[in-house]
Amino acid sequence: MNTALTMHVLDVAEQAAIAAAEWNGRGDKVAADAAATEAMREAFNDIAFSGRIVIGEGERDEAPMLYIGEELGLGGEAVDIAVDPLEGTNLCAMNRPNALATIAIAPRGTLLFAPDTYMWKVAAGPACIGRVHIDAPPAENVSAVAACLDKPVSEVNVCILLRDRHQELIQAVRATGARVRLIDDGDVFGAIASAVPDTGIDLYLGSGGSPEGVLAAAGLKAIGGVFMGRLDFSLDPHGAEKRARALKTATVDIDAPLTLDFLVSSDDAAFIATGVTPGEMLGGVSSSGGSVTTHSLIMNSADKTVRFITTTRRGEHGTIHF
Ligand code: FBP
Repeated sequence: MNTALTMHVLDVAEQAAIAAAEWNGRGDKVAADAAATEAMREAFNDIAFSGRIVIGEGERDEAPMLYIGEELGLGGEAVDIAVDPLEGTNLCAMNRPNALATIAIAPRGTLLFAPDTYMWKVAAGPACIGRVHIDAPPAENVSAVAACLDKPVSEVNVCILLRDRHQELIQAVRATGARVRLIDDGDVFGAIASAVPDTGIDLYLGSGGSPEGVLAAAGLKAIGGVFMGRLDFSLDPHGAEKRARALKTATVDIDAPLTLDFLVSSDDAAFIATGVTPGEMLGGVSSSGGSVTTHSLIMNSADKTVRFITTTRRGEHGTIHF
């Protein structure tokens, strides 16, 4: 993605994070999500590009969500967008770590175009390319990761969302002797962290949102990690209708294991995130002396870079601190 467009999209993520952070710890996840979404829409619509939401959490009739199929921008380069304006609505409402504003962008036609449903996911670091598989039993993936990272199974850390549907998975992983790190929410962070040394996460397993799957895949593509997904409409109360829609919009076999290249088929994709609450990957939004500071990252597949960007908006009379 060209640098100018990426910087504009960075601004979009920052605006969403600032709007959501007004709601940090206020117990209202709906208001936090709505604030992030509105800020994101407004900022996207100021950019000279032709953006199209291909995967996200909104449906056309569900205002104020950014809906799948929504066209954004003032016109220009045709771009696909995956969004979760506030990834971890509960994390924000409860002021817990790792709430993020997240966006992935790629040339038109290169991100999975499908409704928001569930996706089973496996993610790991670059050493595990070709060694983990979405259809492999948990024990097989754990022992593959142990071998790739050259450590005993007992030292492998597996991140899993704490959900009732994952009880069997958690038991299966623990039975191998590996450690389980349970997270309440936020599997974009969990999946990406599996490819970042020293995060204490070596493998991500489990099911979560499909938009979050595409977002994590865009990040992992840039940092050279592994990601494989499988859509699961059976976990979704509207699964049959969504499957029918996915069959019309997606250009890949939606029943097949979705490799990184199926989810993000261009090498010119970027993943952009801004911290809402402070977390392990990014700091949260903070205000001081009339200024607002945000912490973001841009993971760019084209040039294989990860940029960490701190932005201070000084406002009318704000001061800058070093
Ligand atoms: P929200 O940002 O929509 O609250 O999603 C948080 C999240 O934990 C995601 O990270 C994850 O993919 C999804 O929810 C899992 O869905 P569910 O809560 O239905 O299990």
